[in-house]
Amino acid sequence: MEFRRLGETKLAVSAITFGAWAAGGWMWGGNDDNDAIKAMRTSYDLGITSIDTAPIYGQGKSEELVCQAIKGLSRDKVQILTKYGMRWDLTKGSLAFKSQDNDGKPIDIYKYAGKDSIITECENSLKRLGTDYIDLYQIHWPDVTTPIEETMEAVLRLKEQGKIREAGVSNYDVKQMAIAEKTLKLASNQVPFSMVNRAIEDELIPYCIENKKAILAYSPLERGLLTGKIKPGHTFGEGDHRAGVKYFKEENIKRTNEFLAKIKPLADEKGATLGQLVIRWTINHPGITIALVGARNAEQAKQNAKAIEIHINGEEMEFINNQLEDLEIVG
Ligand SMILES: NC(=O)c1ccc[n+]([C@@H]2O[C@H](COP(=O)([O-])OP(=O)(O)OC[C@H]3O[C@@H](n4cnc5c(N)ncnc54)[C@H](OP(=O)(O)O)[C@@H]3O)[C@@H](O)[C@H]2O)c1
Repeated sequence: MEFRRLGETKLAVSAITFGAWAAGGWMWGGNDDNDAIKAMRTSYDLGITSIDTAPIYGQGKSEELVCQAIKGLSRDKVQILTKYGMRWDLTKGSLAFKSQDNDGKPIDIYKYAGKDSIITECENSLKRLGTDYIDLYQIHWPDVTTPIEETMEAVLRLKEQGKIREAGVSNYDVKQMAIAEKTLKLASNQVPFSMVNRAIEDELIPYCIENKKAILAYSPLERGLLTGKIKPGHTFGEGDHRAGVKYFKEENIKRTNEFLAKIKPLADEKGATLGQLVIRWTINHPGITIALVGARNAEQAKQNAKAIEIHINGEEMEFINNQLEDLEIVG
């Protein structure tokens, strides 16, 4: 495995980090606890020492599964990245969206990062994770109802108390990062980035390179699409949010698969799967520090972890980028 430092901090995480959203089942049409734990364990055995989770993933479930997966491992050999600021258990801040929990019960999700809420959330996460510190604590989504300064001051207190090692943000734009930075030194920003979603290249990547901030790329496989396994006509199970995501519209699946067919010979030449080529391309991309990659089971986890063994040289990166120029996503 390769390890990369987050910004100017001392915190080093695995270049491929396990993303534990789908592990919690919520918005992914459910999960299997044993498969999720085995996926995380397999990843760890193959060098993926870092796991990204959040309280909202399965309303506590993902964090609890992380706790089970890392049981027995030396705490300093694992890096836990979690988040705050998405509440399903109170109605403060702004309503993000209406959802259903894993039992089908309606829940309202609020973006809220007030001071007291963060302190409570951190205690709850520590309990669920079975640890006394979090390596990277990130605001999940911007909360427009709380001044960023208030949020960051609360996080600073947690850092002083040793409950978190480093602070990061997620889904922040450059202006929000600059405001946060006035109160504490940020390690990173966790944002969407994949071959089909490169919006951050315009502003955020240049800002993070210039200001020495790490970028944690989320949904690098575009939720499974870039493995090439999704064909037009695909139907998702009940409760799987992907049914409503633009990348899974018929036309976009078709276009993406046409693009994937063009880079498949390169993957074949390397004895790699498309997914592995995609993951390596992501972590090779300028400004991208690590990729957060989700896996439902040990088999997927193994394949994803082994992407680190695939190498892509400058010419090959250029070849892929050239093919991407012809890919236009609609809608
Ligand atoms: N901060 C945020 O707002 C935010 C938002 C999104 C994600 N994230 C983070 O980023 C992580 C990764 O993103 P993601 O889970 O959305 O998407 P992803 O990593 O692009 O895709 C993960 C999904 O793709 C499928 N998959 C993975 N490996 C595969 C393989 N080798 N072969 C075939 N299918 C495979 C699995 O779903 P199926 O088997 O069901 O197809 C898996 O759940 C999350 O877990 C989370 O930690 C953060």
